[in-house]
Amino acid sequence: MIRAWIRAHFYDRAMRTAEDRCLAGWRRELVGDLSGHVLEIGSGTGLNLSHYPSTVTRLVLSEPDPFMRRQLETKVADRAGNSVQVVDCVAEKLEFPDASFDTVVSTLVLCSVRDPQQVLAEIRRVLRPGGVLAYFEHVAADNPSTLRWQQLVEPAWKFLAGNCHLTRHTHESIQAAGLDPVRTEHVAMIPAPQLVRRVVKGLARRVPEDAGRAPRRAGF
Ligand SMILES: C[S@@+](CC[C@H](N)C(=O)[O-])C[C@H]1O[C@@H](n2cnc3c(N)ncnc32)[C@H](O)[C@@H]1O
Repeated sequence: MIRAWIRAHFYDRAMRTAEDRCLAGWRRELVGDLSGHVLEIGSGTGLNLSHYPSTVTRLVLSEPDPFMRRQLETKVADRAGNSVQVVDCVAEKLEFPDASFDTVVSTLVLCSVRDPQQVLAEIRRVLRPGGVLAYFEHVAADNPSTLRWQQLVEPAWKFLAGNCHLTRHTHESIQAAGLDPVRTEHVAMIPAPQLVRRVVKGLARRVPEDAGRAPRRAGF
């Protein structure tokens, strides 16, 4: 409880330098051209919010952590323009009908969810056929020595950083969930520590069922 409060309270301050150096630009690039109905999972304190354009006609921000959600609600209340709905739900169980969104946004969330495969199945379910997952996520290092450090530190890191895993292979998991990459890029989150520096960002499309692409299980 106290750890969750501290994380939420200091999140924006802790992220500020990385926001200035790279994250704010990635956020703008990721959501700045979206339109239609958009769901963001694990919205945190709402650092993507200011980048959504008015062409997004329905914006739902979901966040299960009450301390994060309080800050999110404050940012939403301060924002003029198109209406935004904040909901309390985990991404493993999204409270929306099938095919109800054009885009799902996930930034720095799939590292922390309890069950990434279930989350990706839910994302796929709520996307309309042809809809897109827009994401950036930190992932396992490709350098063996950094990866060994990540494996070593991961248990303590998860405890302190809200279940944040350091060694997930999120890009592969997205593909395994039946979402086809239309754009993928590996980039460095600077000046974050090496342990969380490697980021995958991109877009992955929900293939229509009749295109014959079924989800398969992936190891995380
Ligand atoms: C590192 S923060 C990222 C916040 C925000 N997306 C951003 O880009 O700054 C991770 C967020 O994922 C949320 N989260 C953790 N587990 C989750 C789950 N199972 N479903 C949805 N969100 C979750 C946390 O509460 C937290 O707000």
